[in-house]
Amino acid sequence: MSITGLFLILFLIVHLTVNSMIVFDSSGELFNRAAHFMATDPVIGIIEPVLAIGLILHFIFASIITYNNQVKRDINYSSFGRYKSRKASEGSAWTSRNMYILGAVILTFLVIHLINFFWKMKFTGDPLLEQSTNLGSDVENAYALVTTKFIEWKWLVGIYVIGAVALGLHLHHGVWSSFQTLGWSNRRWRHNWNIIGIVISILFAGGFAFIPLFVMIKSMV
Ligand code: HEM
Repeated sequence: MSITGLFLILFLIVHLTVNSMIVFDSSGELFNRAAHFMATDPVIGIIEPVLAIGLILHFIFASIITYNNQVKRDINYSSFGRYKSRKASEGSAWTSRNMYILGAVILTFLVIHLINFFWKMKFTGDPLLEQSTNLGSDVENAYALVTTKFIEWKWLVGIYVIGAVALGLHLHHGVWSSFQTLGWSNRRWRHNWNIIGIVISILFAGGFAFIPLFVMIKSMV
């Protein structure tokens, strides 16, 4: 879980960097250039299936761990009277107890996200992608597709904000717990990883929520 989780974080760093070009360059040229590179570079072509496998493994491991924890907790609660009065919330943070639910919210977001962008760019196409760019006719207008959807469908922006917040909360626990599992943590570093986890989660939640909000609000003023 730790290794697949940290691998997915690396993907998110690249993804957020590419997406931030939507904010920094309103001509769309930078984002279209980056999206074209991501879609055509052979190395990225190899990394993509690895990413998909990483995501699937992460989900399978999470399901097994959550199931095992649930079974253990049920045994503890039913067999030993002294555990009965213990509340589930004692000794653990809200995020650590709700990692699976947060993961399910992110997965739901991801399905909606992939249908709207990835699927169209890779398989079905979209008239917005055909709009001309000053980079030549073989470069799809990914900027037109992404920004038009965020402007036309306000509900989609809401879904992105929910997805980003769930991602931030998931990473808050995920980062330090990964390093703990890998054995790269002691009493002092546990505190440091916790701080690093908070910073990473704020950056990702803030960054991924900011982009659709920025596009939508800019179109209204
Ligand atoms: C501002 C928010 C976001 C924007 C504008 C955005 C945009 C895009 C676009 C345009 C694609 C298609 C790229 C292509 O096929 O070449 C894509 C793919 C993808 N996105 Fe996002 N994304 C955002 C947030 C997220 C978040 C929060 C996650 C994960 C939780 C995510 C995960 C993915 C994955 C797994 C793919 C498919 C892999 C790939 O094509 O590289 N995205 N995104």
